[in-house]
Amino acid sequence: MTNVGPGIRPTLARIDLRAVTHNLKQVRAAIGPRPGIVAVVKADAYGHGAVAVARILEGAGVWGFGVATVEEGVQLRRAGIRLPVLVMGAAFGDDHRTVIAHDLLPMVGDPGDIDRFAAAARAEGCSRFTLHVKIDTGMTRLGVSEALFEEFVRRCAQYSWLRVDGLATHFYAAEEQDAQPTLDQLAAFLRCVECARKMGAVPQWVHAANSAASLRFAASRFDLVRVGILLYGAQPSRHVPAIDLKPALSWETRINAIREVPAGTKVSYGGSFVTSRVSCIATLPVGYADGYARALSNRAQVLVRGQRAAVIGQICMDLSMIDVTEIDGVEVGDRVTLLGGEGDDVITPVELGRWSETIPYEVLARISWRVPREYPELEPGEVALAGCVQ
Ligand SMILES: Cc1ncc(COP(=O)(O)O)c(C=O)c1O
Repeated sequence: MTNVGPGIRPTLARIDLRAVTHNLKQVRAAIGPRPGIVAVVKADAYGHGAVAVARILEGAGVWGFGVATVEEGVQLRRAGIRLPVLVMGAAFGDDHRTVIAHDLLPMVGDPGDIDRFAAAARAEGCSRFTLHVKIDTGMTRLGVSEALFEEFVRRCAQYSWLRVDGLATHFYAAEEQDAQPTLDQLAAFLRCVECARKMGAVPQWVHAANSAASLRFAASRFDLVRVGILLYGAQPSRHVPAIDLKPALSWETRINAIREVPAGTKVSYGGSFVTSRVSCIATLPVGYADGYARALSNRAQVLVRGQRAAVIGQICMDLSMIDVTEIDGVEVGDRVTLLGGEGDDVITPVELGRWSETIPYEVLARISWRVPREYPELEPGEVALAGCVQ
């Protein structure tokens, strides 16, 4: 759950929802008018707040939303989201009835789930229950294989009240330099779509593309595209054609202590950083429990008064230290930007990811619940609603 609204500690993430709608428009311009856009809001909209993002996008022309778990889907329904909600993660447990009761749209690739959804639909008194079939074309994660696809569709057809309304796959390398794996997956997917058509199953919604494929492989766009990272303003990789994106999340804190120390002073746990000169060290109230990864220790930079300052020593659970020796006039209470822009400079999720050897997705998704999210353009009442997940 997102921690919404002002905290006492000055560490917060500010979400610019206008940037999200701007990014949606850029995606739309790049992919053309035809495919519907499934806005992927799993993992609390990659840390941006699923309810707030879904509320803004519901009126902005998306086809529906993609979540990983049933719980995430229920959260959207409880917040009043009415558009289709695709549950992409296929962890239905024994609770297929919850999916049906909340009118969620599951992506199913396990034959056992067909039977369980059929039984649950019966129990819920549904005269018709709709699902999408997920096909594993190379990711080796979820979905029915091409070899078993025909039998799978036949199994669905046994139940007259189950309707296969969509066929989907997921690419494992659309953002990598080598396009061949994606082209191979596309070919396998097209064979399955053709097979379904021959069997008389005419799914209304065929979908495959994530952000990278949406921009890079026009042939992968089909009826829907499932777009996540682009909406939040990050390029999936340098191999994907760039579009004009605005990062939607900035993460900031304020200096809560400053000390001047002589050369040879050890900083933080383990003393991995030793000052080489008389230094001015500032302490920040942010640590790895907030999602500021320990791997950033002695590697990351932050922005203070428009200048870069180095993170020094090990990042602690709740605190981090930076070297502000070169920054004139620095004071307790000064704003520090961990992610986002200040002056002419910007620290992007890609850059933060590079310092901690991860991808922008993880940088955004790991900003923890402890960091309050602020939505400057929402009214206070709307902010409270954005966090209303129960
Ligand atoms: C099945 C599926 N579709 C689409 C996406 C969206 O990916 P992206 O954020 O790269 O657009 C994801 C995210 O990982 C996913 O798991």
